[in-house]
Amino acid sequence: MLDIKGKHHWLITGCAGFIGFQIIHLLVENGQKVCVFDNLSGGNLANIKDISAKITFIQGDIASKKDLAKLPKPIDYILHVAGQISGPQSIADPLLTNVQGTLNIFEFAYVS
Ligand SMILES: NC(=O)c1ccc[n+]([C@@H]2O[C@H](COP(=O)([O-])OP(=O)(O)OC[C@H]3O[C@@H](n4cnc5c(N)ncnc54)[C@H](O)[C@@H]3O)[C@@H](O)[C@H]2O)c1
Repeated sequence: MLDIKGKHHWLITGCAGFIGFQIIHLLVENGQKVCVFDNLSGGNLANIKDISAKITFIQGDIASKKDLAKLPKPIDYILHVAGQISGPQSIADPLLTNVQGTLNIFEFAYVS
């Protein structure tokens, strides 16, 4: 059950993934303005096809500040669930997505 007072502008990273798509559906059902961001490396756009007309989808990588610059401002809340979930890949490249990408989201939150 989600109880949201008022209408806010939300950014969801990792929107096409398992956790992200469920959050987005809840927010849209609650009348929220939603912008979603994903590089589609692991998720599937089919997960959000049914609500595509009600959200703003931006394809991009959280590790890229250039991609993050495409995001609209201001954003009221960010739910950051983009993540590289493969263990072996995280060991091979521990910093890029889950560390640098998350730092980039913190920086975006600070300046937006
Ligand atoms: N699913 C679970 O039960 C669970 C439990 C605990 C923690 N988590 C964590 O929550 C996060 C999301 O999990 P999930 O199950 O939804 O994973 P998922 O793979 O289904 O979704 C992750 C999404 O992030 C996107 N993504 C990956 N790298 C990206 C990047 N560099 N830039 C932009 N988008 C990117 C993928 O395309 C995908 O849509 C992960 O960090 C995961 O480790 C998940």
